[in-house]
Amino acid sequence: MNELFSVKSKVVVITGGTGVLGKAIAVYLAKEGAKVVILGRRAEAGNAIVEEIRKEGGEAMFLATNVLDQAVIERNLKDIMAAYGRVDALLNAAGGNMPGATISPTGTIFDLKPEDFQTVLNLNLTGTVIPTQVFLKPMVEQKAGCIVNFSSMAAFRPLTRVLGYAAAKAGISNYTAYMATEVASKFGEGIRVNAIAPGFFLTEQNRTLLTNPDGSYTQRGNDVIRQTPFKRFGTPEELCGTIQYLISDASKFVTGTVAVVDGGFNVFAM
Ligand SMILES: NC(=O)c1ccc[n+]([C@@H]2O[C@H](COP(=O)([O-])OP(=O)(O)OC[C@H]3O[C@@H](n4cnc5c(N)ncnc54)[C@H](O)[C@@H]3O)[C@@H](O)[C@H]2O)c1
Repeated sequence: MNELFSVKSKVVVITGGTGVLGKAIAVYLAKEGAKVVILGRRAEAGNAIVEEIRKEGGEAMFLATNVLDQAVIERNLKDIMAAYGRVDALLNAAGGNMPGATISPTGTIFDLKPEDFQTVLNLNLTGTVIPTQVFLKPMVEQKAGCIVNFSSMAAFRPLTRVLGYAAAKAGISNYTAYMATEVASKFGEGIRVNAIAPGFFLTEQNRTLLTNPDGSYTQRGNDVIRQTPFKRFGTPEELCGTIQYLISDASKFVTGTVAVVDGGFNVFAM
């Protein structure tokens, strides 16, 4: 059997693991034999995912976290090392947006709330840097590990409205390139840092932006579909293959890339 894409027995830590994309990835990787650690803020949601995974015969644990609090993440690492003894992959899926960091079609830059802008930068960017610092330590010891950051279409070309989010995700792509070089040159080729850039997936964060209560598309939803050659939004499960590739030996010589999973949105011109 070809083991190139195997994630069997790998310890995979997922921040934002209770989110829509994080959950789909956690459930998939557990089915593939990974030991999944769901880091999230909502214990009830996290424990429900763990139960779902265990019912299917998979291995998982939930730990409450805050990606902006280094002390909490350090405690998470301690608990993970006690349970599994290593960390093979870190998926930095925690992220999000807030209204005060956006500019509505009728608003202007003068309506932006700098404190919300700062919060969005912190959550998406600093909330990736801090878990990287903590979970990189066992990877350095092991001389092996994979980190996957979550970028966005907004990183390539800023989408209208989402000013703070776009700036943060552009930062994520840049940080991914920086860290790929940094860890390879200081700790060797066993540690790789890549990112995934999902296109548009209907989640709680963007549902009201892209769809009306009756399920039809909003103006923005239609704009996205028009710009997407596949003429649809993605389903969270469609990210799983790319994640598996990025954390398995199949991508052994791949670091510093941003893997786009978007139905063609990013390359469509007219
Ligand atoms: N949904 C999309 O279309 C899309 C597209 C591109 C990129 N992304 C990115 O993918 C990632 C996952 O997105 P999603 O759609 O699953 O969103 P989601 O809102 O369902 O999940 C995000 C998770 O992050 C968690 N979180 C927020 N603040 C946190 C904190 N301080 N500490 C720990 N966890 C925290 C939330 O509780 C939530 O579970 C995000 O980084 C998002 O920006 C999503």
